[in-house]
Formats: sequence, structure tokens, C-alpha cells
Amino acid sequence: MQTMDKKSIIADLKKVASAAELDQWYEKYLGKKWEITVAYKSMGELSPEEKKEMGQKLGEIKTEATALYEEKNTAFQRDAINEQLANDLVDISLDLPLVKTGHAHLLQKERRLIEEICQSMGFIIEYGKDVVTKYENFYSVNIPASHPATEMHDTYFLSQHDDQGDNLVLRTHTSSMQNELMKRYGVPLKTVVPGKVYRHENTDASHDTVFWQLEGLVIDKDISIGNFKEMMMSLLSAIFGKDTKIRMRPAYFPFVEPGFEIDASCPICEQKGCSLCKQTGWIEILGAGMVHPNVLKEGGVDPNEYTGFAFGIGLNRVVAIKYDIKDIRYFTNGDLRFLQSF
Ligand code: PHE
Repeated sequence: MQTMDKKSIIADLKKVASAAELDQWYEKYLGKKWEITVAYKSMGELSPEEKKEMGQKLGEIKTEATALYEEKNTAFQRDAINEQLANDLVDISLDLPLVKTGHAHLLQKERRLIEEICQSMGFIIEYGKDVVTKYENFYSVNIPASHPATEMHDTYFLSQHDDQGDNLVLRTHTSSMQNELMKRYGVPLKTVVPGKVYRHENTDASHDTVFWQLEGLVIDKDISIGNFKEMMMSLLSAIFGKDTKIRMRPAYFPFVEPGFEIDASCPICEQKGCSLCKQTGWIEILGAGMVHPNVLKEGGVDPNEYTGFAFGIGLNRVVAIKYDIKDIRYFTNGDLRFLQSF
């Protein structure tokens, strides 16, 4: 009956530090097979007085131990629930910001599309650089320093100089790449240059100080105006997503001879007459021409053997026409209402 010592049973129970230990304690003292139970069962052998005394003692131990056991058990269960709640905690009050995904600018989406069209037609895509020399922008494409044509291009000059002591310039047209491309790739050559160009001029709904051009340069033996016309109709039809005709008017650019201004059949009204084409059915869309012999020579190409054509499309204008955008300054003014509508 050593183990029935009340103090040691209670002391054992007080040492219990976890639910598992409490289970063990229960098994040991209160479980069916164990000490208090067994002690009850063995009372049969005792005399009536001893039985009474023993019964009383066991009863006290059992009552006290059971109460303490219940208390501990409840505490462990509460701890377990609290722990689980803490682990499962989701703070639904957390105000996470919505993630806004950006998208490419309309002009850039269209530029990529046009590049793909050009690539499918066999053009090499080149970008060149925005800051160029006077040689690249003017002299290499037959615009001498004294030429009044330099005034056609209201130029932004930089304070930095090139090797010749000339101020560098922000290219006023992508024709500034023609010379480098001829020298780099030689002939035959079929390339387009999408790129930003800069002009120091007053802005209005159809003029901006920065805009994108797409320069085309095709040089080979026996290249004719007919080749240009066919190619341009295919290109514009692909860009506008509908059959497009062109009309050619004589125009002057120092780097081509002959030079043309090209009108496209109005893609908005399909030549029925609308405000965009001012009821004429035609809209002016690009400059082009047969590459001037001086430009070929300057690029190391023999003009007696090779001919070619060049063109310069204003991308902002083309995209504005395609999407019926009335003022091309929307492309650069950063107005979110505009940017988010495409
Ligand atoms: N560079 C001319 C411009 O910016 C466009 C052009 C390119 C014209 C090629 C003819 C040939 O206005």
C-alpha cells in the first residue's frame, strides 16, 4: 500500500507538464488496471474495520486526485485550443493593395506589330541612336550645311561636340541611319528603322516635338518605283488591316530623286468621305523616293549598278489614324485616361 500514499500521488500529479504526461499519470493511478482501482479490488481480504478505514482513505485520495486531474486536463485542453487558434490565425482586416498590371503603350504595341509585319516581308530591323552627328543627320543624306533644307528640320542641338567640332544633334529623322546601314550591311539591303525623332517646333493636334518614324531603305539592282508602290500597298494594307491604295505626288527631299509625298486611301471611311480625309478620300501619310545617287555614293554603293528607294512613315500619325485619335499629343502627355483606354 506504499503507492497509495496520498502525498506522492498528488505530488506526481503536480509534476505533470503536458497532456501526454497527464494521460500516463491517469493510466498509472486511476485507470482500470491501476493502483487505486487495484487497491479497491484487493480490499476483500481485509477485516471490516480495516476495510472501512481503507475505503475512506482511498475515497479521499480518489476524490482529490480526480479533481486535480480534471483541473489539469481542462487547462491542457484549453492550451491546445488556444495554440491551434493562434496558428490558424488569419487577419481578415489586412488591407492588401490591389496589384495593378501595366501594359505597353499603344504606340509601342503598334510599333511591335509593324515590326513583325516588316520582318515577315524580309526587312532587317535596326534602331540606331537618338543622339547623332550632323554628318549622320544631314551631310550623309545630301543635306549640306548651307542647304536651306536644314531649316526644314528645326533641330535640337546639344552642347557636346563630335570629332569634327560640330554640335551633336537629336536626330530630326530616321534617315540619319541610312548611311550607317549601307556601310554596315553593304548591298543588297532591305531594312527598316523604327525610332524616335525630335523637332523643335510648335505643337498642335498633328505636330509634336517628339514622335516615332519608321524609315525604310531598300537597295538592289533594278529596284524601281513600281517595286516601291507594290511594297508600300502591302505594308499599309497589313498595318491598317484592310486593302489600302496609294497615290503618289511629287515632293522634294534632298536625299531622294525623284521624291514623293504618299497619300493612302482613307482607312476610316474607305474613300466615302469623312472628316479625317476632309472628304477627299485620301490622307497624306509618308515621304518617300528613289535614293539619291549622292547618298548611295556616300554609303559606298555604286549608283551605276544599284538603285533603291527610301521612305519615312510617321508612326504617331499612322496609329492616330488607325485608332481615330484626334490629337497626337496624347501619345506623349502621360494622361492616364488616354493610356488606360488602349
Ligand atoms: N526623312 C523624311 C522626313 O523626316 C522622310 C523621308 C524618308 C522622305 C525617306 C523620303 C525618303 O520628313
